[in-house]
Amino acid sequence: MNVAGSAREKKLAALLAELPAGLLLTAPEDMERYTRDWTGDHHGLPLAVARPRSTADVSSLLALCSQNGIGVVPQGGLTGLVGAAVASTPRDEVVVSLDRMNRVRSVSPIDYAMVVEAGCILEDAKAAAEAQDRILPITFGAQGSCRIGGNVATNAGGFNVLRYGMTRDLVLGLEVVLSDGRIWNGLKLLRKDNRGYDLKQLFIGSEGTLGIVTAVSLKLFPKPSQIETALVGLRSVADAMELYARARRECSDLLNAFELILRGGIEIALAARSDFREPFETVCPVYVLIEASAGGRVDLRAILEDFLIGASDLVVDGAVATSRAQAAQLWLLREVMVEAQGRGGRYLRTDVSVPISSLAGFVDDALVALAASHPQALAVTYGHVGDGNIHLNIVPPVGMDDPADIEHLFHEAEMVIFDVVDRYDGSLSAEHGIGRVKQAAFLERVDPVSLDLAFRIKRALDPAAIMNIGRLLPSEETDERGDP
Ligand code: FAD
Ligand code: LAC
Ligand code: ZN
Repeated sequence: MNVAGSAREKKLAALLAELPAGLLLTAPEDMERYTRDWTGDHHGLPLAVARPRSTADVSSLLALCSQNGIGVVPQGGLTGLVGAAVASTPRDEVVVSLDRMNRVRSVSPIDYAMVVEAGCILEDAKAAAEAQDRILPITFGAQGSCRIGGNVATNAGGFNVLRYGMTRDLVLGLEVVLSDGRIWNGLKLLRKDNRGYDLKQLFIGSEGTLGIVTAVSLKLFPKPSQIETALVGLRSVADAMELYARARRECSDLLNAFELILRGGIEIALAARSDFREPFETVCPVYVLIEASAGGRVDLRAILEDFLIGASDLVVDGAVATSRAQAAQLWLLREVMVEAQGRGGRYLRTDVSVPISSLAGFVDDALVALAASHPQALAVTYGHVGDGNIHLNIVPPVGMDDPADIEHLFHEAEMVIFDVVDRYDGSLSAEHGIGRVKQAAFLERVDPVSLDLAFRIKRALDPAAIMNIGRLLPSEETDERGDP
């Protein structure tokens, strides 16, 4: 008798017996689109895929899973980059996709707030806010696919963090189904509330390990009437950071984004799209994409142009977009670079941060170290440097096809990068989280007190140990480091 097979069948039977018809997919062909993430690096066939329609559905499902010891993997839009939203087959987990819980429950212009279900696609939530003359400022390349619950669970960053903050700064309240099925109603529109612990913070950035977020109340902001976008070419990352320091002063609080792209990234975008043109006559080693926005009687264009003219000692060349279409084209270049960087194959992604004041030194040191250790590999460097956050990605040399060689390269290059991050007192994940991909490096560095507290929180909120086991924290069965 196949013991694993029969245990799996028992778990499935327990779910099918209790749950309403239509909630679970079990045929491999129906589950297919829930088995692979955006990277293509992570996939796994789950025991079943649950597609709840309501918070009550999620509650019954988790109560059953916790009673029967069935592992649960919450899933949003599958754009997470650390392998935490797909099943890992040997665990026999149930994927819980929030894709049917996608309603905008309310937009309240006076409160500058909205309430959306966790499965709402970020772009749809943004559109609903804009329809009421407000903005939801979470903005990044995956916004057409990622879902609000995923943004909360990863504490997503993006282009506008330097002005509006991370997702954590934008959440007013949450509704969460706990692992035992209880519903925690922490949804509120209050700006100020000091009644005890701020429990929502535990779930933000918890990568699906503490509960399933089912709805979110979010802060909104006035919709700007003017947006200006510029691309600037510079001589060095140090000059880019000096330009940023001046921009913060001279563009006041109107700066939304300050994105760095090293020349290699521009070349990737130019090669990927025949309609892209070389930005300037002079080829520059470093570029920055700047966006500012304002409402009211501010001459934003004059502010940005005066600022760039005043920085002529730093700026080699630059152009302010003269239309929304031109501005969109500049952002498209950034997006295409991200999509094309891997030449259709695997590449190492990092999302590190250091203090803003050290960013130029960090990039120089990391690139020198990588050139010495892996001269054949291509380093692609870009990021949200206004937040001290850089993506330093490694593409295998052309002709390196053996998966074991690629894995080895990634491991070594990551060690080189993280070693420099450590020297700068930085973080090995500024944006994408730990998941499965960064877990070993995280555990090597995390201090014992933080790890002990993290395990205590995990045990308190997920006593049956069913929520996204093995992601972020190791399973306590396989790793005793968490035991106090
Ligand atoms: P998924 O990938 O489905 O899940 C991610 C994690 O959240 C998993 O651990 C999952 O279990 C958990 N989860 C999902 N939904 C829930 C829920 N309802 N309750 C509890 N847990 C849940 N990130 C940035 O920070 N900044 C960027 O600029 C950025 N740019 C990106 C650009 C591209 C092209 C791509 C592909 C990704 C980018 N990301 C960026 C990564 C980012 O983490 C995700 O895009 C997004 O936040 C994840 O949302 P998702 O709905 O796709 O989540
Ligand atoms: C970005 C993602 C990869 O910055 O975080 O495009
Ligand atoms: Zn990013």
